[in-house]
Parts: sequence; C-alpha cells; structure tokens
Amino acid sequence: MAKVKVAHVNDIVNGEMIQATINSKNYLIAKIDNNIYVTSDMCTHEDAELTMGCLDGTKVKCPLHGSYFDLKSGKALNEPADEPIITYKTLIEKGHIFIDE
Ligand code: FES
Repeated sequence: MAKVKVAHVNDIVNGEMIQATINSKNYLIAKIDNNIYVTSDMCTHEDAELTMGCLDGTKVKCPLHGSYFDLKSGKALNEPADEPIITYKTLIEKGHIFIDE
C-alpha cells in the first residue's frame, strides 16, 4: 500500500465534493461537517461518475439511475446498484489529505 495525496482540505467547501484524478484513477472527496470522506468515483451499477450526482448528508446520489451510496461504509442503499463503492481511510497531515492505495 502506498500513501497517496489526493487533495488539500481547503480545496473542498464544507458540504460539497470534488473529483480528484491521481494516476488515472478518479476519487470522490467530500467534506461534510468538516469531516473528509474519500471514495471511488464510479457507480457500481453502470459507468457514472458519482461526483456528477449530488450529496445528501453523508450519502451521494448517482446521477444516472439514482442509487444512493453511504460515503462512510460505501454501501449501496437502494437499487439498482447493489455493490458497494470503495471507501478509503484518510489521513490529514498539514491540511493535505492522504489515502492508502
Ligand atoms: S449508473 Fe448509478 S445507479 Fe445506475
């Protein structure tokens, strides 16, 4: 596992999410109640970037067919998606957000 820097906490407005592309992989990075969540940015149903959807608390809604995913557990909360997205443990150092990848 390698420690990968994905963003700085100041890159994200509280209550919003951004997409970061690192080594050709897309990540969803959200700041909710000043907590940082990092997940994969691809729906597990079909090819849709979740950062094109919308946040509802610590859930993200897929823009294509409306499945919600829990950003904490990655769990798909309603059909049609039934597989979880990947969630990453985060480490914040001097404002920089790192994940183990
Ligand atoms: S592509 Fe996300 S729910 Fe269908």
